[in-house]
Amino acid sequence: MPDDAVPTAAAPTASASTGDAARDDWWRDAVVYQVYPRSFADSDGNGIGDLRGVTDHVEHLAALGVDAVWLSPFYPSALADGGYDIDDHRDVAPELGTLADFDAMAAALHGRGIRVVVDIVPNHTSDRHRWFVAALAAAPGSDERDRYVFREGRGPDGAEPPTDWESDFGGPAWTRVPDGQWYLHLFAPEQPDLNWDRRDVREEFLTTLRFWADRGVDGFRVDVANLLVKDLTEPLPSLAELAALTDGEHPYEDRDAVQEVYAEWRTLFDSYDPPRMAVAEAWVPAHRRARYASPQSLGQAFNFDLLTAPWDAGAWRGVITENLDLAAQSGSTSTWVLSNHDVIRHPTRYGITAAAGQPNAIGYIPAFGVDPTITVDEELGARRARAATLLMLALPGSAYLYQGEELGLLEVADIPADQRQDPTFFRTGGQRLGRDGCRVPLPWTSEPPSYGFSPADASAPPHLPQPAWFARFSVASEAGDPASSLALYRAALALRRELGGLGRGEGLAWEPSSPAVVHVIRPGGWHCLTNFGPAPVDVPAGQVVLASAPLVGGRVPTDVTVWVRAGQR
Ligand code: NOJ
Repeated sequence: MPDDAVPTAAAPTASASTGDAARDDWWRDAVVYQVYPRSFADSDGNGIGDLRGVTDHVEHLAALGVDAVWLSPFYPSALADGGYDIDDHRDVAPELGTLADFDAMAAALHGRGIRVVVDIVPNHTSDRHRWFVAALAAAPGSDERDRYVFREGRGPDGAEPPTDWESDFGGPAWTRVPDGQWYLHLFAPEQPDLNWDRRDVREEFLTTLRFWADRGVDGFRVDVANLLVKDLTEPLPSLAELAALTDGEHPYEDRDAVQEVYAEWRTLFDSYDPPRMAVAEAWVPAHRRARYASPQSLGQAFNFDLLTAPWDAGAWRGVITENLDLAAQSGSTSTWVLSNHDVIRHPTRYGITAAAGQPNAIGYIPAFGVDPTITVDEELGARRARAATLLMLALPGSAYLYQGEELGLLEVADIPADQRQDPTFFRTGGQRLGRDGCRVPLPWTSEPPSYGFSPADASAPPHLPQPAWFARFSVASEAGDPASSLALYRAALALRRELGGLGRGEGLAWEPSSPAVVHVIRPGGWHCLTNFGPAPVDVPAGQVVLASAPLVGGRVPTDVTVWVRAGQR
């Protein structure tokens, strides 16, 4: 086929639908779109995205062709951690709407065949939660305090924290209260950890799960699912000693007993028709992931390996092989993730040209935006991101997309310090920029001041500042451009569905190829080839149905993925 005829972005023909609405196991191959509600669309002009904003844009999601939407927390919160500090798990933050708005949104999504997944944050509450307020008002040793993790300090007068553990956002993991006791917070001080040894804590979350399942929610994304159950028997290990502990020995990470919690949740999920799905966010070694993904547990677990994998064919082959094996072990399917609300957007990540240090659990490339030697080649990043996306979408399992990635949005690195929100930035004294750069409100049109995020007569600017270059990435400007990222995503998702569910089934064969190429064959003779190497390679025999960039001289150039229907020219 001539180069200029490569269908990089055929117009989608199918509107979103679940394909087979009756399938209870829809999540096994679903394309799930993550909405970070405060930054998706602002319907009432207060500068904060809201639930009506989601309802207003259901057609965007339908035209994109996603199967489900996962909403990051929209519950009442003081926003010490972007809404993951929750005051009340069974309500909607007033600035985001009401429970009636939630129901209307869910109905609108369901009406277009899009399922709804909500975020459950069981490891901690906010410090404004009624239980923590009561714990502070009560005396040391009280029942109220026992719902959290309170301890006496060390040293004279107990003035030193019980351990030298660090919070995930930097700084100490303990905070002292006026009567001298300390409480544990693995995240921000405004996120006290709960004591999951207590029956009332367990009951509270079962009530919350029922509350949302009864409202028709289809599934749950479970925040830091590996941290809930703790063994804080003294003496507690030091920070240095924690690193040496192996599977199941750590006082708070991935303890075997956490599965008892999920076994109980599973019974609850399976009492619904259809059973509710759940996906674990659990940063555990790959070999422990299957525990969370098993049908007796949450049923699915995030595989974040592509977030840390370098742009290298061998690394991708390794990640794909290992995760398909793990999925087979657990009886689940794999999940694939290139971006989410915690990491640098993948077009930027793939464009980072300097050696940038080791990934860490929440920011990856911690010095990004801080160390001036770290530079971004945007063209390279965009090219690799498109290729990565097409390869990901050809794999068996479920793909999780993050709002704005369909636009090829880049990370916003230059948010002024006084407008930043992420506790990571503040708790590391600016040594890590944190996650605000991937949470900037979406551009729907190319017109400032808010690029269609808020109505024209908005009373407040978007809650994080949008750069002028967002105009180029807006839904409106990309919708009419067949070479745009949006057109590529729409075409890929439409084809994935049309091909009988490219994500479905475990079938994946490896076609022998050069070390710089990943070439997989899916059932029905679909080939997906990615060229990671510098030299162009041949297109597999058949009809090219989609390519992440134009072919050159009829060959696949560097950093390009092609989808080919075998046996057709
Ligand atoms: C993981 C979430 O994805 C992240 O955004 C949050 O800060 C932590 N859990 C704490 O809830």
